[in-house]
Amino acid sequence: MYVGDSLSLNNWQSLVCLLHAAAPQSNITTKSDNSTSTVQFQEYGVSVMLFHSNYLVDIEAEQVGRVLKLDSVKNGAVWKDMDILIFNTWLWWGRRGPKQPWDFIQEGDKIYKDMNRIEAFRKGLTAWAKWVDSDVDPEKTKVFFQGISPSHYNGSDWNEPGEKNCLRQTEPLMGSTYPGGSVFATQVVNEVLSTISKPVHLLDFTTLSQLRKDAHPSMYNGFRGMDCTHWCLPGLPDTWNQILSYILMQCIET
Ligand SMILES: *[C@@H]1O[C@H](CO)[C@@H](O)[C@H](O)[C@H]1NC(C)=O
Repeated sequence: MYVGDSLSLNNWQSLVCLLHAAAPQSNITTKSDNSTSTVQFQEYGVSVMLFHSNYLVDIEAEQVGRVLKLDSVKNGAVWKDMDILIFNTWLWWGRRGPKQPWDFIQEGDKIYKDMNRIEAFRKGLTAWAKWVDSDVDPEKTKVFFQGISPSHYNGSDWNEPGEKNCLRQTEPLMGSTYPGGSVFATQVVNEVLSTISKPVHLLDFTTLSQLRKDAHPSMYNGFRGMDCTHWCLPGLPDTWNQILSYILMQCIET
């Protein structure tokens, strides 16, 4: 089960396509409800699921308005039954204005109108980390965290200062270092993950993805304007999933 925002959707779609290509005759059933989409490969007893959660922590409608609850991970009740969990969150923590899906932030019994978004991210991710330690059974469930997925809206980051997005990019950056440097949120992810005592594997794809300024849908995604945040299928998500499969095979063998 992938748990996260639309970048998890990217990965879920990619994995479904990879599995379908590998087992084209398999009968597929699909179902979805408010938060979960499932594709089941019947002959294999395999379900690949997507749980939509932009923040991993909860947003609840209350009298004051929509409240982002930095200490609450209620959906964990669904997640903990899974064999494999792949989490991701970051994209939405910086959103403001009409795109911000909450009115207040709650931490403990304090309610705030807003706070430093990196700190909010750290607190929310910490609640998730505590949930992993208290609720995940490592004998049953393998936990992965998908590192920060970079976007490409500033050509200064890849030595083309005139470029304002990824539209004209047709090639990856060569080499293995990104001129724009690291994504700051990566540091928060590393710090919070290091506090978890249960096994959690970081899928550390950030630098690999920074180099792929050419791999976004840009204007060719049909509806979103300029999209240099998500990734084309097939492409980078397939690479991520191939690396994930490799890691999973090693887990099974050892
Ligand atoms: C792009 O990055 C450069 C270097 O960090 C910065 O000076 C510039 O303001 C950025 N441009 C935009 C539009 O954010």
